[in-house]
This record gives sequence, structure tokens and C-alpha cells, in this order.
Amino acid sequence: MDFAIDPHGGTLINRELDAKELEQIWSKLDELPKIKLNAREQSDIEMIAVGAFSPLTGFMTREEYESVIDNMRLLNGLPWTIPITLSTSDDNASELSIGQDIALIGQSGRAVAILNLEEKYHYDKEKEALQVYGTDEVEHPGVAYLKECGDVLLGGEIFLIEREHKDDFKEYRLDPIESRQLFKDKGWKRIVGFQTRNPVHRAHEYIQKCALETVEGLFLHPLVGETKSGDIPADVRMECYKVLLDKYYPKDRVILGVLPAAMRYAGPKEAIFHAIIRKNYGCTHFIVGRDHAGVGGYYGSFDAHFIFDEFDPQDLDITPLFFDYTFYCKSCGGMASYKTCPHDSEEHIALSGTKVREMLKNGELPPSEFSRPEVASLLIESMKEG
Ligand code: ADX
Repeated sequence: MDFAIDPHGGTLINRELDAKELEQIWSKLDELPKIKLNAREQSDIEMIAVGAFSPLTGFMTREEYESVIDNMRLLNGLPWTIPITLSTSDDNASELSIGQDIALIGQSGRAVAILNLEEKYHYDKEKEALQVYGTDEVEHPGVAYLKECGDVLLGGEIFLIEREHKDDFKEYRLDPIESRQLFKDKGWKRIVGFQTRNPVHRAHEYIQKCALETVEGLFLHPLVGETKSGDIPADVRMECYKVLLDKYYPKDRVILGVLPAAMRYAGPKEAIFHAIIRKNYGCTHFIVGRDHAGVGGYYGSFDAHFIFDEFDPQDLDITPLFFDYTFYCKSCGGMASYKTCPHDSEEHIALSGTKVREMLKNGELPPSEFSRPEVASLLIESMKEG
């Protein structure tokens, strides 16, 4: 029996060109107009091409974009909370004609995809900032990104030529079609996905293992695309996961894979987006803890839980597993949360990211109740090197 959960919209998208199509593209590539991609656009292309953003097949056209910004839905009514767009300057856009194929140039200077231009349009950056990030303050990394973007958006279907970063974290680079197959091979019916952009700590481990108590498999899925400066680099975070998995996780129940998407820091809206993506990778459940995809003080600690009430569970079709603020409690003698612990917060060992970074920078191990010493040592080493 096939237990697989359907991708968002019912079909797993694949926009990779086959050998014959590639040959045709190569022969005309030089004549095509070219647009240079930034890191987020480039990773979005890969995400679209491998079906992680199913049902999207390209960059959003105006109506789709406005529907997402205004209603958190695609034009066909499916939930979707984050605009997926490609921007350029007015000058560049004026050179492009509708219906034309455009070569999209990656960070290395090579063409990574073709865009069939369906529409070019101006957009309201301030509105997008307020609707998606809930703020127009430029201190928010998502707003800062928008500010750097061109004033015209290019919409249309894309076709992938090559993945520039295909060898990064190669062993852990599972496309949705591969993770789905792996879950199937393992006979897992219920799989919980875990999004993360930070070094793993005890609260992460606790909520992952609590979730695993109720399902068959845990898909640890650290985001390795672009993050804001100040976040710990993905290769260091992956090393932390490797040592942890080796010593503290059941090998037959956990799969570690990377998510090559860029971080948006859109809090609640990104929680929905992250859940949809993990559904495309084959997860049936998704962990949403405290201040999911948050930054600074821009979102309430549990806004990313509340937003799920705005959608019909059948439309999302992936079950969120919500976790309260978790920590080690000295009186309980173990990990707990505000939901399960009756003791005073003086009994709780919980450190802010800033405090932890400060300790690590000074070569100081955070308490083992906060972070496994193996992980903390790796982080200290990486800071020395960095
Ligand atoms: S995120 O930007 O990817 O959300 P992070 O890697 O810190 O950041 O968090 C990964 C997941 O763990 C998110 O669902 C987040 O809400 C959850 N989380 C992190 N720390 C805690 C905590 N102390 N208590 C409960 N949930 C937490």
C-alpha cells in the first residue's frame, strides 16, 4: 500500500531539462538576453525545479503575487504565504519582451536556468514588507533584502539548466522525490519534519524527540541556503548535527537532509511556507516551536502557531505539531516547557542566542543542560577559525 502524502496541489513539479532539451538550449544560449540572479533567486530556482515549491513552476506573475500578498493563497485557492519573485531594474526590464526566453545567470557567471517571460510589472515594496514581514523597518533582514531588489518583477515559468551548488552537502542533498522514496522504503507512514537555521541545542533535541514519540520517522531538515549575517554558517551546523546524531539519536528513525532554500525571517508566514515545503518532501507532520522563523522582536512567540488557524487543515494537509517554550528545569530535573513545568523561571536554564554566542566566542562552554558539550566544542572551534 502507498502511504505517501500528496505534494501541495497534487503533483510533484520537475522543471529540470533533459539532455536533449539542454542541447537545444546550449545552442541558442549566447543569443538570449541575460539577467543576473541574487543568491535567494538562485536557490528559489532550484527549489521550484525539484518540486520543493510545488505547485509553482516559475516566478510569480502579478495576479499570483497579489493573491499571495493579500490573501495568503495562490490564484487556485491553495495556501501560499511567501511571494516567489525575480526582480530586475527598470533599465534591464525595458530590454526584455514578453514571450522571450531569458537566460538566468548564477553567482558563478554561468546560466543556471531559462525564464520564459510571461509578464513584467512594478510592485509596492512597502506593501510587500508590511504584508509578509509585518514591518517596513529596514533592520528586518527581509525588508533590507527587498530594498536591494530591482523595481520590476519578472514572472514566468522556469527551466533548470544546472544546479550551481549541487555538490555542497552532497550526501545530505535529498530532492523531494528522493526523500519521498526513502520514507516509503523505510515503511514510514507518519514523518515529522524539522526546520532549523540555528545550531542544535537541547530544546531542539527535546521537541524533535517528543514529536518522534508519536510518529515513525524524523526528517531533520536544516536550511542551508542564504541566512542573515550573524547566523552560524550551515557547514558548522551540519557538523553539529552529525556528532549529535551519531551519539544521541536512533539511526533507523532519523534522516538528516539539507534544505537549500533561503531564509526569509517572515515568522508566522514562513512557518506556513516551511510546512508546505516539508509536505512536498513527503512529511506528514511539521514542528512549529517558539518564534518559528523569527528575528529580533518582530513577532509574538506563538504567532507562528496562531496563523495555522487561518487555514482549513485539509488545504494545508500537513499536521503542525506545536511546542511551547522549552528549557531545562532544575526542579523537574529534565527538559520541560511552560506547558508542563510548574516551577519558577529561576529554575529554568534557557539562554538567549546573543548570550550563547558571547560565551562561545570567549571559549566558554554553555551549560550542558543548554547545549550538548560535543556541539558546544564544535561551535567554539569554528569561532576560533572564523
Ligand atoms: S528557525 O528560524 O529555523 O525557526 P531555530 O533553528 O532556532 O530557528 O528553530 C527551529 C525550530 O525549533 C522552530 O520551530 C522553533 O520554533 C523551535 N524552537 C527553537 N528553540 C525553541 C525553544 N527553546 N522552545 C521551543 N521551540 C523552540
